[in-house]
Order: sequence, then structure tokens, then C-alpha cells
Amino acid sequence: MKKPSLRTIFISLSLLIILINPNPVTAHFFPNISAIPSSLIPKSTIWDAFNNLVGCRKGQKSEGLSKLKKYLHYFGYLNNSYSDFSDDFDDRLEAAVKTYQLNFNLKATGELDAPTLSHIVLPRCGNSDVVNGTSTMNSGKPNGGGNSTFHTVAHYSFFPNRPRWPPSKSELTYAFLPENELSGAVRGVFGRAFERWSEVTPLTFREVAAFGRADIKIGFLSRDHGDGEPFDGVLGTLAHAFSPPNGRFHLDGEENWLIDGNFLNGSPRSAVDLESVAVHEIGHVLGLGHSSVEGAIMYPTISSGQRKVELANDDIMGVQELYGSNPNYNGSVSLTPRGERDTSGASRVEFSLLAGRMLLPWSLLLLRLFV
Ligand SMILES: *[C@@H]1O[C@H](CO)[C@@H](O)[C@H](O)[C@H]1NC(C)=O
Ligand SMILES: *[C@@H]1O[C@H](CO)[C@@H](O)[C@H](O)[C@H]1NC(C)=O
Ligand SMILES: *[C@@H]1O[C@H](CO)[C@@H](O)[C@H](O)[C@H]1NC(C)=O
Ligand SMILES: *[C@@H]1O[C@H](CO)[C@@H](O)[C@H](O)[C@H]1NC(C)=O
Ligand SMILES: *[C@@H]1O[C@H](CO)[C@@H](O)[C@H](O)[C@H]1NC(C)=O
Ligand SMILES: [Zn+2]
Ligand SMILES: [Zn+2]
Repeated sequence: MKKPSLRTIFISLSLLIILINPNPVTAHFFPNISAIPSSLIPKSTIWDAFNNLVGCRKGQKSEGLSKLKKYLHYFGYLNNSYSDFSDDFDDRLEAAVKTYQLNFNLKATGELDAPTLSHIVLPRCGNSDVVNGTSTMNSGKPNGGGNSTFHTVAHYSFFPNRPRWPPSKSELTYAFLPENELSGAVRGVFGRAFERWSEVTPLTFREVAAFGRADIKIGFLSRDHGDGEPFDGVLGTLAHAFSPPNGRFHLDGEENWLIDGNFLNGSPRSAVDLESVAVHEIGHVLGLGHSSVEGAIMYPTISSGQRKVELANDDIMGVQELYGSNPNYNGSVSLTPRGERDTSGASRVEFSLLAGRMLLPWSLLLLRLFV
């Protein structure tokens, strides 16, 4: 038998290293769309095939429905008691599609019509829209299905039991996974994203080096990375974050992340604006769930190449309900809080704050209606 060559030894060693660290974290960052090499732009992405299901409805059987059920299960629209992941369009799937449609302000037909599929295939946050059977978006609201294009009512939401960072922690620290070796420019994008939230709340955020001890732990990771919520390559799910006081904030290391916020030229087939996604995920880190208001940061989807970094009134009202306002914040919030909020976790103080806020905005609201 031949002695193992140097080459064999080298290959075995490399394999061993890959086995030990199954998800090398080599995230890509680009200043603009033209800088993305074509080899990194896939011809199709994980959810594109859902477009073939157009027109599908209850009673039919169609190849691909099984995958769609898994998608709806992942985002909470089919609960854990559901087990029929076949290609049959059953009652439960119809109900799930209707809930999805209500959440995204679409006509609740229960059919896989073109407008519904065009939403389903959009890149999005990996956090669920329905947690433990309760939708945090439109469909779970007392006025569920309200047309939020014409919104006068707040749609922000919280995680179950409204977890938040304790009042003793008004400064939260954040750190980056050391293996990611992020540049100053990339870290600066996160700094700006945190700033959006500290402008409107009493919270401040400070970068620290000690990853293990930071309140908020930011990492670019790929595929299965140990928390039961695997990433899926280019587009599909982009990032996810855990509710307070967990602090884990993960981004898909396989995305083509744009960091300059200035990328108007080119065909943005697969480009994702890092700051937009960071502002959204920090909302989760602070305790916000998804909102049905399309202009809100906490809306779950974002189109490839879209930039959305300004907090909407809906986001500001939500985060201020948890933490109060920044004394230096001079903006005004012009939505009517929902009167029928889940009161299980709400203290009296929160309610009187709410009531106080309800008095002010009406004049602004009327202005908005007539201008
Ligand atoms: C895009 O980025 C590349 C790499 O930094 C740069 O050479 C190029 O000039 C940029 N293009 C535009 C249109 O800004
Ligand atoms: C799952 O959803 C179905 C239909 O909405 C409901 O009847 C059932 O109670 C739910 N099961 C669990 C465990 O939440
Ligand atoms: C919501 O309202 C807007 C403006 O009135 C309208 O254009 C849109 O079609 C409505 N959407 C739904 C789902 O009813
Ligand atoms: C979901 O419900 C189960 C059982 O009611 C409970 O143990 C669990 O903590 C809930 N999860 C969340 C996120 O509220
Ligand atoms: C609010 O404050 C910002 C700076 O903090 C200032 O530029 C802006 O003019 C102020 N707006 C009002 C209405 O006072
Ligand atoms: Zn999200
Ligand atoms: Zn994760």
C-alpha cells in the first residue's frame, strides 16, 4: 500500500477543519451593485418556484404545495399540530393563506393569486409572523384585515408577554462575532442603525470588544448555525433576532450585503441593503414584533435593492410604548394607538402614557386626512 502523499494529508486536514467549523463565516460586502461579481448572483433563488403555483386553490393538488406548506409553517401560519406536508391544498392551507393575506394587506381570497405569490417570494426577515398561534400582525388584531394602506391605527406588535430590556439597563452593549473580522465601514452601518432607535428612546448603545459579555451579539452566519433557525443562501431569509433579553442577532453570511446605501444603478437581483435589515432586526432585539404597515421598519419583507432605514410612526410608537421617549426627541407621533391592546403584560403606567398620547395626535391626524 502506498504511503499517504502530502496532498492526501493536506486534503484530510482541510476536511477536518471544515468538519470542526461547518459554517465558515465569510460574509461579502459591496459598496454598490456593480461591484457584485456575477458568480455571486444566482439565476433563481430558493422561493422563485412558488410563482408556478399561481391560481392554486382548495381541493387542488399541485407540485410545490408541500414546499409552500413548509414555508408557511416556518413563519408560523401552520402550527405544530399540522403534519400533512403533501401537495394537497386542504382547509388548513386555505386558512393559512387567508391569514397571510390579511397580514400583508392583500385580498383574503384563500387562493394563491398572483399578488399573494409576489409577496411570498420576497426576501424577508426569518422571524415568524405568527407566534404560538397568535398573529402579531393584522390578522391577529381586533380589527383584523383593516386596510392599513389608509392607516390611522397603529399596527406595531410585541413578542408574547412583551419582553423588554430591564429598566436598569438603559445602556446596551453590542459586539460582533470576532471570526467575522468586520471592517470599520461595516461596523459603522450597525452604529447608524442603533442610532435610529436611540434617537427616539432613552436607550443608548455602545460597541464593546468582548463578544461573550455584550448584551447584543451580532454575527454573520450561514445555513445551520446551531439555533434551530438555519439560513438559506442568497435571498430567502436574510436575518433574524431573538426577543429581549436574549440579544442574539444573526445575519445570513451568504447574502450580497450593500453597505453604502447608494446603489441606484444596476439590476439589483440579489443585493440587500445592510442598514435596512439592521434597523429592522434591532427592532426585534428591543422587543418589537412584525407590523402590517408597509412603510414601517417592522414590516417583514424587503425587496432586493430596496433601502428603508427611517423609523415610521408605527415603529416609534411601538418602541416608545416599551421604553418611553427620548427627552430630546422632538418629533410627534401621529397614529392612534389601538385601544384594545393586549393588557396582560401592560402596567398602569403604560396605560396612562398611552392615554396621554392619545390626546395630542388628533389634530395632526386630521391634518393628514385633509392634506
Ligand atoms: C462600485 O464599487 C466599485 C468597487 O469599490 C468601484 O470601483 C466603482 O467605481 C463603484 N461604482 C459606482 C457606480 O459607484
Ligand atoms: C393548530 O391550529 C388548529 C387550526 O387553527 C387548531 O385547531 C389547533 O388547536 C392548533 N393546535 C395547537 C397545538 O396550537
Ligand atoms: C386599501 O385602501 C387603498 C386606498 O383607499 C386602496 O387603494 C387599496 O386597494 C385598499 N386595499 C385593500 C386590500 O382593500
Ligand atoms: C408557547 O406556548 C407554550 C405552551 O402554551 C409555552 O410553553 C411557550 O412558552 C409559548 N412560547 C412563547 C414564545 O410564548
Ligand atoms: C428637532 O431637532 C432636530 C435636531 O435634533 C432639529 O434639526 C429640528 O429642527 C428640530 N425640529 C423641531 C420641529 O424643533
Ligand atoms: Zn423581522
Ligand atoms: Zn440564528
